[in-house]
Amino acid sequence: MNSLTNASILDTIGNTPIVKLQHIGSEVNAEIYAKLEGFNPGGSIKDRPAVYMCQQAAKQGLLKPGGVIVESTSGNTGIGLCLYANVHQHPCIFVMTDKQSQEKIRRLQSLGASVVLCPSNAPIDSPISYYSVAQRLARELGGLHINQYQNQANPDCHYHQTGPEIIRQTQGEFDALVAGVGTGGTISGIGRYLKEHYPHIKIFGVDCQGSVFSHYYHTGQIRQAKTFLMEGLGGCWIPPVFDKNVVNGFEVVNDKNAFAMTQQLLIQEGIYAGGSSGGAITAAIQLAQRCPELTRILAILPDSGDRYASRIYHPQWMNKHQLATPFPVNAYNSKIIACLDHKDVRLA
Ligand SMILES: Cc1ncc(COP(=O)(O)O)c(C=O)c1O
Repeated sequence: MNSLTNASILDTIGNTPIVKLQHIGSEVNAEIYAKLEGFNPGGSIKDRPAVYMCQQAAKQGLLKPGGVIVESTSGNTGIGLCLYANVHQHPCIFVMTDKQSQEKIRRLQSLGASVVLCPSNAPIDSPISYYSVAQRLARELGGLHINQYQNQANPDCHYHQTGPEIIRQTQGEFDALVAGVGTGGTISGIGRYLKEHYPHIKIFGVDCQGSVFSHYYHTGQIRQAKTFLMEGLGGCWIPPVFDKNVVNGFEVVNDKNAFAMTQQLLIQEGIYAGGSSGGAITAAIQLAQRCPELTRILAILPDSGDRYASRIYHPQWMNKHQLATPFPVNAYNSKIIACLDHKDVRLA
């Protein structure tokens, strides 16, 4: 095989494209750029730390050949872990909250993983939270709890890989980076790299209304979280890997404006992304309005839209949650209703 051939699926992770938004944000002074992490083979930014955490654990002898991988995940990290696990032949068990989309659960099952669901309203330290159950299962089964919330390899991956990749692609010619906070791995790793090497770039977190990060950043206090529908972004506690010292500020978005923007990204830019990507672009525009001196803003779009077809791209689900938008996208009601043969395509 020639040198253009990748060694395995794991070698296709990263080098995701950055595009400039063509229509969205035209009302602000700044140019808005989007790094499309949905182009990773598992469909999200989480492929990067998932594989890196496994590689580090294998190097340290914590992950033995054939050992069971256990993780508490909103889905994307699980999908990334499966890439590594299937190439290296590890069984996987993922513990998720019951608010995650069916698409993510089915994808994990299709990849061969076992999935355990826990109530999303259980406090993180309760014995039935997805985090505690993952810890217990790992202990009982002799598996390795990857623990992305506490595993320093999670931000380190972004420090060593994603940060330098962004600089290779942009030469550092932008003023602000906008990234959502889930575990805090992305913002802490990329943020640390940029602060050390390109201190002119400001780092802004995206938080979801109801989550605790922005309030914690501004006050040092952890308040009671309220429910929100956003997946991957926001949380009810401060994960140890989150490093608030590399962050210059936070923008808060809500489900409604983030999901409307997610649909707008598809309709106006052709970008099929998840709800937190809509959140990141909403945040970038808010930021541009607040700080007109920031003229080039790069937003991280963490995952692809395929895992939200039954939610953000489904009017019934959106209506049920009072999230109807001016850009209704219906993944289940294509205008082509019958394709009888190659010549006879009928439109509704
Ligand atoms: C779907 C999704 N995955 C991953 C992330 C990044 O989160 P983390 O802070 O865990 O690196 C986000 C943050 O917005 C997200 O929305």
